[in-house]
Amino acid sequence: MTDGSDDTAIRSVGVIGAGQMGSGIAHVSALAGFDVKIHDVSLERIESGLATINGNMARQVASGRITEEERQQAIARISGSEDLAGLGEVDLVIESAVENEEVKRDIFKRLCPLLKPEALLATNTSSISITRLASSTDRPERFIGIHFMNPVPVMELVELVRGIATEDTTFETARVYVDKLDKTIAVSEDFPAFMVNRILLPMINEAIYVLYEGVGSVVAIDTAMRLGARHPMGPLELADFIGLDTCLSIMQVLYEGLADSKYRPCPLLVKYVEAGWLGRKTQRGFYDYR
Ligand code: CAA
Repeated sequence: MTDGSDDTAIRSVGVIGAGQMGSGIAHVSALAGFDVKIHDVSLERIESGLATINGNMARQVASGRITEEERQQAIARISGSEDLAGLGEVDLVIESAVENEEVKRDIFKRLCPLLKPEALLATNTSSISITRLASSTDRPERFIGIHFMNPVPVMELVELVRGIATEDTTFETARVYVDKLDKTIAVSEDFPAFMVNRILLPMINEAIYVLYEGVGSVVAIDTAMRLGARHPMGPLELADFIGLDTCLSIMQVLYEGLADSKYRPCPLLVKYVEAGWLGRKTQRGFYDYR
């Protein structure tokens, strides 16, 4: 490096998954000046993700958080690709697909041969072992967990999680990327569900037990925690917001990974997921959104 530029710096970001987390990651990355490519399995899903980004940026313009010009420039930096090969030239790929280890492994298997050798690969997993996911790639030393919170444009925290093989330069490059998003980093060791979800999800699971045991109604439980503990959302409303399938996956990772009965998923949570009542995204969870 003789011209002062940094060869390891991230300039372009690929995001796999155009759902609520993926679209949020694309949103904040584009606003921070990165070129962004979103990949999902269908054009409809990509278009739905882009519509979400557009809508959320419009909210930020309306409340004066960003200007209309910044919105337009950020939107122009985002493009979509149905084909994984569309991510072949980016500097950093963040996988934000469904919270299912097999699905993630399959994506990495198809993606790795398409990437530049020097590209970094990250996962937004909310609970799965970074070391284990890294081992299914061709670049464990350039693999890292970058865990965003929902809604991504609003929440200030990002957890950074190294796998056993993650190199210092990978960590440093990821840290610089997150700093540019103006988020605060909490570094977590690679343990099941890291820090935020290790603490948050058992609380949500307990709230579901409180409902299951008939201690209080949905509204009473949420009111209790909003007004009694000053949480911005009650735990059942928050579970619907996160997605009950994601909540169940995280509890299963905690239960299996830490082998302690205190993490047993509440049977009512299991039943709701079996019914396809996954929260806001299916318009039915603990609340009815229809
Ligand atoms: N994009 C952009 N801006 C958004 C937004 C989005 N998706 N959602 C909300 N906002 C903005 C609003 O425009 C508003 O902005 P201004 O202050 O500039 O007007 C602000 O956020 C507050 O929103 P609202 O007035 O609509 O509603 P609210 O005050 O009830 O806040 C909330 C909504 C931010 C979601 C709040 O209820 C909250 O913080 N809830 C808790 C969320 C939480 O705990 N998230 C973590 C989940 S766990 C996780 O994500 C980890 C995991 O892996 C599962």
